[in-house]
Amino acid sequence: MAQTSALAKISDPPIDPVQLFKHLIETAGQGKPFIEMNLATIDEEFGVLNRTVVYRGLSSDNHVFYITHRYTRNCKNLQANPKACLTFYLPLVKNVDGMDKETLDSWQVRLIGATAVELPESEMDALWAKEDLPAKIRGHVFPCGEPVDYEQQKAKHDGFLNEHLSTGRAIERPATYTGWKFQPQLWDFLKVGQGQIADRVQYRLQSNGKWQSMHVAT
Ligand SMILES: Cc1cc2nc3c(=O)[nH]c(=O)nc-3n(C[C@H](O)[C@H](O)[C@H](O)COP(=O)(O)O)c2cc1C
Repeated sequence: MAQTSALAKISDPPIDPVQLFKHLIETAGQGKPFIEMNLATIDEEFGVLNRTVVYRGLSSDNHVFYITHRYTRNCKNLQANPKACLTFYLPLVKNVDGMDKETLDSWQVRLIGATAVELPESEMDALWAKEDLPAKIRGHVFPCGEPVDYEQQKAKHDGFLNEHLSTGRAIERPATYTGWKFQPQLWDFLKVGQGQIADRVQYRLQSNGKWQSMHVAT
């Protein structure tokens, strides 16, 4: 075991946390089909419930958003109580010799004390148009969270797919299709490399709408 130790440093954090977030997403997202995030909600049965969802980008007013269906538990949780917390784990890698990848720094981004706001209906058609075929079929035929018989589900899926392919008709956006954006009270950025003690920068939303930032011990 190496007997060295160092301190990670987040140098010159920008005034706006979204600017830092965008930079990390662009760097971590290179060569990846999508970026996942972990969404925790308040659940009546379990107290807290989390799951992995796909980060879909920033809304027109610069808030992280994701897509779901109204029949999911995550959506029902947010409807009942819009408080949520999100985490991203973003290892930044560089290609070595075009083959191997070397991890540089790992980042964790947390949106703390976030309030979820449902995306307006007027924005959903454009998002639906960008969905891939499996996502469109899932939206129609799969009862999320209910016990299912695989063969029955497969028959339902294949029937739907064949109908779509043979008629060439567009798959309509189901009424359940929706999305939520998150307005955090606090952004927490943690950076660490191999053999280092992490650095953390927090941005706290002030009553005047501006962000106050500070390094905090990890
Ligand atoms: C890589 C990955 C991405 C996912 N993306 C989404 C998503 O964007 N929206 C969603 O509702 N569920 C997504 N899921 C499924 C959720 O993790 C979860 O299983 C599902 O939403 C049901 O969770 P719930 O019972 O808490 O609602 C994804 C799962 C994985 C593994």
